[in-house]
Amino acid sequence: MKKYDSQAPSRTSADSDRLEEIKALREGFSRFMLNYQFAIDEVMTKINILKTEFEHLHEYSPIEHVDSRLKSPESIVEKIHRRNIPITFDAIREQLNDIAGVRLVCSFIADTYAVAEMIKAQRDITITETKDYIKNPKPNGYKSLHLIVEVPVFLSSSTETVRVEVQIRTIAMDFWASLEHKIYYKFGQEIPSNLLDELSEAADIANDLDVKMERLHNEVQVLRPGAESRSARAAGLPTNFSLDDLFNRE
Ligand code: GTP
Ligand code: MG
Repeated sequence: MKKYDSQAPSRTSADSDRLEEIKALREGFSRFMLNYQFAIDEVMTKINILKTEFEHLHEYSPIEHVDSRLKSPESIVEKIHRRNIPITFDAIREQLNDIAGVRLVCSFIADTYAVAEMIKAQRDITITETKDYIKNPKPNGYKSLHLIVEVPVFLSSSTETVRVEVQIRTIAMDFWASLEHKIYYKFGQEIPSNLLDELSEAADIANDLDVKMERLHNEVQVLRPGAESRSARAAGLPTNFSLDDLFNRE
């Protein structure tokens, strides 16, 4: 067994400086990450308020469930490398939009746009980027509405503006994306083309299901006695608009 070496060379002042540097870096990184966690907490609170309000007032919530994740330090380092991002907090803050992530799963396609509208309408939220992969799916069939939002985080002596990536999708889109993610990771970077075709085909099937369930939902809403007052429509939820309408309108 190795004994501690009482003759170990004493620490030089350069060593001490280095140690202080590492401590400061660790402290800086913790604070950096904490702001993203606070931003997630804020967005989650906002979304949970909307969800609960809908459940109370309208007996209907366009939000099935909501989830969040803070990107791991390993994934951050990997992405910095992959994208050749300078290793400074400012550069990382500016170039990584998904350190804080919130995922919202909705019942129907129209709900995804309605929820995006509700998020956009919040006064302290700024939407800096939108990607409508529902209208324009990725080649593999991936569908989702992505918003990059900025929220103010009120700290003891400052207010930080922090970015959060919000992904909004239906249950069927979420089902597809979760399984595709697993398959993709098994194959690494290169997916065989036949598998890509099948994934895209599976996404079409998921979309057929979304369209069918939404049509059934709308038909039942019309048939139910007094349903109008309880429906999403009566609750003021827009039912068929696109992101173009949404973000070109002030
Ligand atoms: P990333 O470097 O992956 O963050 O991509 P990006 O910055 O170009 O943004 P994009 O909007 O394309 O993707 C952001 C996130 O959406 C990803 O981190 C995934 O969570 C999700 N996503 C995008 N494309 C796919 C996909 O093909 N399959 C699955 N399962 N998820 C995807
Ligand atoms: Mg990402």
